[in-house]
Formats: sequence, structure tokens, C-alpha cells
Amino acid sequence: MTTIRMGIDIGGTGIKGAPVDLETGTLTAGRLRVLTPEPATPDAVADVVAQIVDHFQWTGPIGCTFPAVVRHGVTLTAANVDQGWVGCDAAELLSKRTGQPVTVLNDADAAGVAEMRFGVGRGRKGTIIMVTLGTGIGTALFTDGILVPNTELGHLEIHGVDAETRASDAARTREDLTWKHYAKRVDEYLDTLVRLFTPDLIVIGGGASKNADKFLPRLTCSVDVVPAQLLNEAGIIGAALSADPPETVGGQTDRDPPAAAPATC
Ligand code: BGC
Repeated sequence: MTTIRMGIDIGGTGIKGAPVDLETGTLTAGRLRVLTPEPATPDAVADVVAQIVDHFQWTGPIGCTFPAVVRHGVTLTAANVDQGWVGCDAAELLSKRTGQPVTVLNDADAAGVAEMRFGVGRGRKGTIIMVTLGTGIGTALFTDGILVPNTELGHLEIHGVDAETRASDAARTREDLTWKHYAKRVDEYLDTLVRLFTPDLIVIGGGASKNADKFLPRLTCSVDVVPAQLLNEAGIIGAALSADPPETVGGQTDRDPPAAAPATC
């Protein structure tokens, strides 16, 4: 029997959602994209999530990505988003606002889960790192298909600064870097990951992956580096895959009791 779940991908510029067939990893209806409100406070974002859910007249479990550390549904950081999310019980907020059970997970983790199930990582064993190059740098680390959530390797320090300030797609645009120059930055970042984790494969996703042909061939990185296959839809699909009943994410699920007292936002 086919299982369909709603996947919603919350990003810095857009919030996208669609129902997803979990057997095939395909969207069962055209996705809806709404601009991220400014400021992207928890309440303002919750309104957009509810708008997307209403658009599809969806009832049932929802999975939602968020570009920050997410533990047991609570968003713990806010590198490129409104500070109101720090310590916010996002799963509770979104569940209340939509009236449906909502699971929340890190955006790169969701994209990685989707790539491992339906994209380039399918059937691959070993250590695989998904790197999303977008507004920030997101990472998802898998060993034999099991995710270690919230690795946040985009914030490794390189040349004394946060790596995402040099090698994200936003850094490329901000500094108007040529593809050659950008490839050098990405190379340097990936070399750091290789030194630390000796991965078997690195998968590049996020906004920059649309231009993979412009910089991936220039990389000299010693391990296989391939573009993500699911592009824009990875977040939505990974979110849907993580909707209730939750997949085990690195041994944690949102059904585990929260480690700390319930947070508010
Ligand atoms: C955040 C991560 C997120 C990544 C990509 C980083 O700034 O800290 O949680 O996965 O951006 O959105």
C-alpha cells in the first residue's frame, strides 16, 4: 500500500511543500512555494506552513525541514534565521498551528536522507557526506546508510573563519567569485572533510548544485564528489520520509522524551 506524507522544506528565501509518495519518492502533486516572510519569526513561518497545508487540504503526518540544529523537535541554533527560533519547540508550534502531527529535522539531514533513499546514495555503504551549498553550508553524515544527525560541519573553522562564510553559494554570489575561484574554496572545504572523516563519497546539493558542471569538474578532491540527483526536491522528500511514524534518525526519534524541559517560542 502506498504511504503518502506531506513534506515541507523551510529555507531562508522560500518555503516549499508537497505530498510525497514514500515508496517512489515522487511528489504526488505540484509543489507550492511561498516566499519566506521577513522577518522569519516562528509565528510568521508557522502561518506559511499552515497556508501550504491548507492549499493541499492535507490531513495527516507532516515532516518539516529547518536550517538549524533540531533536537527532539526543538530548534537550537539560528545561524542564518531569525533568533526567535533558538530554543523554540518548533514541532509543537507547527503541530498546534496546522492541527496535524509535525516532525521537524535539520534541512541538510533531510536532503541527505532523501538522496540516500532515492538518489545517488541509494544502496551505497560506507561513509557518505552530503554537503548542501546554499545560503549556508549544511552537512549530513551517513555510515552504512545510518545518519548521524546535526553534524553542522558547515561551521568548521578554516583560515580562522566559519567555513560557510567562504564556501557557501551565498559567499560565491556575495564576493562575485569566478567558478574557478569558487572551486578552490570548495576544494579546500572538502579537503578538510576528507582529512577528518575519510568518506567514500561526497554528494553536493543545495543551490550551487544547479551549477555543478561549472565547478565540480575543477575539483581536485581525492574522493568521489558527485552532484545530488533530487535537486530542489530533496528537502521536501526527506521531510516527508521523516514524518510520523518517524524514521530512526541516528538512534533518536521525535518520540523519545525531550532531554530538557519543553521550550517555548
Ligand atoms: C546551519 C545548518 C544548516 C545549513 C544549511 C547552517 O548555517 O547551521 O543547520 O543545515 O546552514 O541551511
